[in-house]
Order: sequence, then C-alpha cells, then structure tokens
Amino acid sequence: MADNTTDAPRATSNRSTVPVSSSFQDFISSGWADSADAAPEPREQAPFAAARRDRISRLHPGRRLIVPAGSAKVRSNDTDYPFRAHSAFAHLTGWGADAVSGSVLVMEPTADGHESTLYFREAAGRDSDEFYANSDIGEFWTGSRPSLDHVAADLGLATANLKALPAVLHAVDADTLVVRDADRDVTDAVDGRRLLAAEAGSIENDGDVDLARDLSELRLVKDPYEIAQMRLAVDATKKGFDDVIADMPQIVAHERGERLVEGTFNRRARADGNTVGYDTIAASGPHACILHWTRNDGAVVPGDVILLDAGIELESYYTADITRTLPIDGAYTDVQRRVYDAVLEAADAAFAIVRPGILFREIHAEAMKVIAARTAEWGLLPVSAEESLQPDHQYHRRYMVHGTSHHLGIDVHDCAQARRDLYLDGVLEPGMVFTIEPGLYFQPDDLSVPEEYRGIGVRIEDDILVTESGAENLSIGIPRTADDVEAWLRR
Ligand code: GLY
Ligand code: MN
Repeated sequence: MADNTTDAPRATSNRSTVPVSSSFQDFISSGWADSADAAPEPREQAPFAAARRDRISRLHPGRRLIVPAGSAKVRSNDTDYPFRAHSAFAHLTGWGADAVSGSVLVMEPTADGHESTLYFREAAGRDSDEFYANSDIGEFWTGSRPSLDHVAADLGLATANLKALPAVLHAVDADTLVVRDADRDVTDAVDGRRLLAAEAGSIENDGDVDLARDLSELRLVKDPYEIAQMRLAVDATKKGFDDVIADMPQIVAHERGERLVEGTFNRRARADGNTVGYDTIAASGPHACILHWTRNDGAVVPGDVILLDAGIELESYYTADITRTLPIDGAYTDVQRRVYDAVLEAADAAFAIVRPGILFREIHAEAMKVIAARTAEWGLLPVSAEESLQPDHQYHRRYMVHGTSHHLGIDVHDCAQARRDLYLDGVLEPGMVFTIEPGLYFQPDDLSVPEEYRGIGVRIEDDILVTESGAENLSIGIPRTADDVEAWLRR
C-alpha cells in the first residue's frame, strides 16, 4: 500500500468484485501517465478566509480549534445525500463545493495567535488499490482529488494528509475546542481525549458552544467577497425565476405542475454549475398557505397564484432566498391583488427604515404595522389594528405566523447560533445581509375570513444589504410590484 492512503469511511464487502490477484494488481497499477498538477494562484476568497481565521483566533487565544468539514450524510444503506462541507469550515477555509469530504481544519495555538493546517484525504497513488477498489473514495468511483500542494496554493493554507490527523487528535487536551455538529467521529475522539485530560473526570462542552456561537457571529457582517457572492447568487436566482415563467404553459398543462416548477428552477441551478440553497418551495393555489411546502406535487391551475420561494447556492455556498407570488394566468384577481398589495406595502415599509443603527427586530415591527392595519381594515380582526399590535394581542399574526427577516449567507438561515443580543436585538451594521419577507396566508378552511380570501397565500421576499447610509435591495431586479409581475408574465 502506498504511504498516503487512508481508511475508507465505509467498507463494502458484498458488491465489489475486483480481481485480487497480484498479477491484476501489478497490471492495473502500471501504465499511467504522470498527472501534472500545477499549483494554482490563491483563489479570490483566500485572503478573506485568512482574515476570518485571524478574527476567531483572537477570540480564543491559547485554545486548539478543530473545525471539521464533515462527510456526506447517509440517505439509505450505502447511498448518501450530496456532500456539503460544514458552513463554519467553508467560511474559515474558503473551500466550498470542491471541498474534499472528511477534511478537518486545525488551528494550533502559538505565542501570538494560531497556525492553521488543513487535513484532507489526498489522492492515493496508483501504487495502492484505493483508486479502483474503494467505491467510497477511490478516484475511479468518485473522481479525482487534488494534491496537498495544489490545495495549499489554492486556499493559501498549510495542508497535511488526513493520515496525520489521528496524531493531532491524540494530543488533544482540555484546552481544545471542536465544532461539535460537523463530524461525529472527530467530536467523539476529541471528547474522549478531553475526558482523559480533565482532572475531575468529567468535561463541560461550554467552550465548544462558545466557539459555535463565535463562528456564527463572525458571519453577521459580510466582507466584500461575500457581498459580491450574494449579488451573483441573486442574479443566478433571477434566471431560475425567468425560466419558470417561460415554462408556464407546460407547467399548467401537467398534472403535477409544481414538480415542473421545482424541476425548471433546479435545472437552472445545475446547468449553471450551482445547486439550490434549500428545497424549492413551489406552492400553488392553497398550497401557498403552507409556509414550507416542498412536497410540490400539486397542479398549477389558472386563476390561482403560485408562491415560488427558491434560491440558488453558488459553488462558494453563498445562497439567495427569494420569493415571488405569481398569477398563473398572468393577471391577479381583485382580491389577489388586494392581498398582494398589502404584503408589498409591508415589505416596502420595512425596507424603508433599514439603515445602520436601527435594531434588527424593528424591521419586523414595521412590517407588522401594515399587516395589522390591512387585516383590520378588511374586518378580519376582533379589535383595532392598534390594539392588535399590543404584545398580548397580536391577532393579525393568525395570517402571518412567521418572522419577517433572517440573516442570509452561506446558510439560508445564516448566523443561527448568534446571541439574541447581536441578532434579534442586534443593531444593524453595514455589510449585514438579510431577507425581508412578509406574507399573508388565508387557509382554505379559515372561517374567520370571507370566502373570497380563503386559499390565497402571498409572500414577497427580497435580499437586503445594509449599506453605510441605508440599504440596498439586492433582488430589486426581480419584478415585485403587481403590475411589474403581470408584465413579466406577459413577456
Ligand atoms: N426560504 C425559506 C425560509 O426562509 O424559511
Ligand atoms: Mn427566507
């Protein structure tokens, strides 16, 4: 066996039928051209990732920090979901869709900070049987892997073979912190060593929780690379929405038109080299009242509206999160337009107050003023809008049970482990990116609303960047007023 092979994550004993004779091994191991693997220039994200590592280093002096990428999650038996590296790993390394599964970033404390090394499963040579006999990781099975030198140059980061990781984990002491939810084997190994090192024979995971929190908070303000990626993700997403509109005749003609909506949007993602940042919500007719409708098995019927909540995730992992609610036959009915305009008014009112210095939760409060006013005006509330807005009433929330905004970035619900003080009660800063996504949902069986409203669901969701002086709607180029949406469908 060549020196740089590593154990397969999952042995298979029943399926593989490769010959095991030494004559076969000799034959398949010879006769291969040298693979030239010229060192690339560092990728654009490399200096930004280095700056992020510096910031987390300053927050945890003297601690060894272990940030695994994780591995593909099992779907069933020996089939997996597509691999996606842990978001904190991607953020600190700049390695996204091309990351090698099972990799681990280790930040070793030094006198004045940390020294980072990326451990990953390097390609085994043709002098081992890995490349043809190992269906989990062999290059004939899953594709080629880069060399240590290639990745070191590409990411601007020291690299080492994953084979050397067990020695690192063996040296783990009570001062080591790990991102716990990325790779269970690594977490178990770290816990085991820390348990041995702990004087009282028990360990606290508080330090790990602090690390996860800090890594989440590190992403609250986006750097220029991230903002540029968010713009590209929104642009890519617009193409997906355009494709869905262009395909509307076939979608309407199909008995499961929602599946075609999902397929068309996701095809655009894949065709452009991307994926989707979350399962596409293609919710037509009354399905629009189900906030996360991803079953997408219904018909798309003229006369109804369809709510499409979808976002394209780039190879860097940055994703958009956009919702538009479209009249399927090209024109809103009066009542659909009334609901649509109220939601748009809420979105515009919320956007109008966004600037550095306000509290994140004020955005939601502003949108709710409009939602309460309109639902009261339509006679849906048992009290006035003012009374409904009192914290102990909130009757209008029957028609919008979700929040108005969430941070957006590498994760669709980004920065989820940030402290409330910095997120919900946090003060807006330039570089923050979040959604504004008010909605109104009148369930088909809701007897509190007149019949004409029942089964209508509308959400309008845009991706917002806080600037030095105010805010920019990154998705303003995707039609959003009722008139503009109708014109978009006519084109
Ligand atoms: N796009 C789905 C959500 O924000 O929950
Ligand atoms: Mn959203």
